[in-house]
Amino acid sequence: MREGDRNIDEARQGEAIQIESTVLNHSEVGVKSKKLFLESYGCAMNFSDSEIIASIMSDAGYSTTKDETEADLILINTCSIREKAEERVRNRLKGFKRYKRKNRDLVVGMLGCMAERLKENLLEQEQLVDLVVGPDAYRDLPSLVKKVNGGQKAVNVLLSREETYAEISPVRLDSAGVTAFVSIMRGCDNMCSFCVVPFTRGRERSRDPQSIVSESLDLFNRGYREVTLLGQNVDSYKWNLDIKGNVKDPSQPVVRFAELLEMVAEVNPELRVRFSTSHPKDMTDEVLHAMSRHENLCKYIHLPVQSGSSSMLKRMNRGYTREWYLGRIAAIKQILPGCELSTDIITGFCGETEEEHQETMTLLKEVGFIMAYNFKYSERPKTLAERKYKDDVPEEVKGARLSEVILHQRRYASELTQKMVGKVYRVLVEGVSKKSEDKFFGRTTHNTVIVFDKGDLKPCDYVNVRALKCTTVTLIGEVTTDKADA
Ligand code: 5AD
Ligand code: SF4
Repeated sequence: MREGDRNIDEARQGEAIQIESTVLNHSEVGVKSKKLFLESYGCAMNFSDSEIIASIMSDAGYSTTKDETEADLILINTCSIREKAEERVRNRLKGFKRYKRKNRDLVVGMLGCMAERLKENLLEQEQLVDLVVGPDAYRDLPSLVKKVNGGQKAVNVLLSREETYAEISPVRLDSAGVTAFVSIMRGCDNMCSFCVVPFTRGRERSRDPQSIVSESLDLFNRGYREVTLLGQNVDSYKWNLDIKGNVKDPSQPVVRFAELLEMVAEVNPELRVRFSTSHPKDMTDEVLHAMSRHENLCKYIHLPVQSGSSSMLKRMNRGYTREWYLGRIAAIKQILPGCELSTDIITGFCGETEEEHQETMTLLKEVGFIMAYNFKYSERPKTLAERKYKDDVPEEVKGARLSEVILHQRRYASELTQKMVGKVYRVLVEGVSKKSEDKFFGRTTHNTVIVFDKGDLKPCDYVNVRALKCTTVTLIGEVTTDKADA
């Protein structure tokens, strides 16, 4: 799933951070009578949720299958972030109708953000599914499926202020067993004017830090060597603090994101820790200092800027200016020299002028991102932007600006990758390279993919690799006993 060149290919299509569609599969747990086909769209958070869903359904007697034709239950975990993502799901669901004609007992359910957004309408108007379940209601899935088996339609789209699925042990659907997602919080309290997430995933809440540490330790003991801590805005992670910032229980420690990072880093120095997504307005120097203290906190930060223009950022309700963002970048470069950066860009948001767009172009050049995930603005119902601004940038202008961003960004990324050639990197071996059977691929701390001969290595090993050459964003190297530069 995280193989090699995925990112740049997707970036070219303007769809990068979204994991397009992943048919989830994992080894079956025991002999189960019923088969679940589970497919995920959208962000890493959704993928992580699917692992919780697989766990809940496994307890209810379902094992997952890769083969949709043999399923008793089809669940689609959906994304609403752009209109295109929803269209793709609708088409997929229309395709499932043929299985329903063959097997009248087949249950088809829609989960996730699209379920939350469209609610009962999906049952009433579209008649594509039997079951609609929002992101905070997955514990209810077994009883809802039973209800459908009993001949009724079933819906639960209640959002919660507490649900974090903290104690549910996810069924790891990444069969490679090297890297895993660990969800640390849910929901989002930022009201970026373009974004549907606060409406589909509800209020922000953080997960108990002990359960995060236990899950990470358990993964390490099972052989995993990398965790990615996930949240819509990881920098506002907080435990034992109320919304106003007052301590809830004085006998318990307060844990903010910087402390959480250190707790997970201390699980084991051989466990790499990544995180996503940071918010420029909330990213503190404490987080950067924590990263500098622990080698296993990977030196890579995904810091979505969205636009390089302060007037656009104001309309986007991002809570920072271009100058503030550049100040955060300066802090990263000072505290964590050599740390690589990636970002998200939206082109053609409401009222974007050519000058504002050019400010994005100059920011890209000034910062030098190793990766950028670029999107054309897609108006989403209920959002602040839909209510307040006109979606007035013509489609062809949005597209032309997107192409310009992608073209230039590719060049900057390629220049940064070329600078890595000649250096030795400590690499975590992840799996067989897509392009060559006799090579492995792994990642540097900077998240750069590097390909090298398999030798006696195996996934989960750490190895020093000297970068000998590169393609646009992938390094090609040879294993060495020399000391690593990074
Ligand atoms: N249109 C286009 N892109 C969007 N994103 C979020 N909402 C929209 C939208 N309405 C992008 C942002 C965000 C990423 C996950 O998706 O860049 O950071
Ligand atoms: Fe993830 Fe947002 Fe898409 Fe929901 S709408 S799946 S939170 S990207």
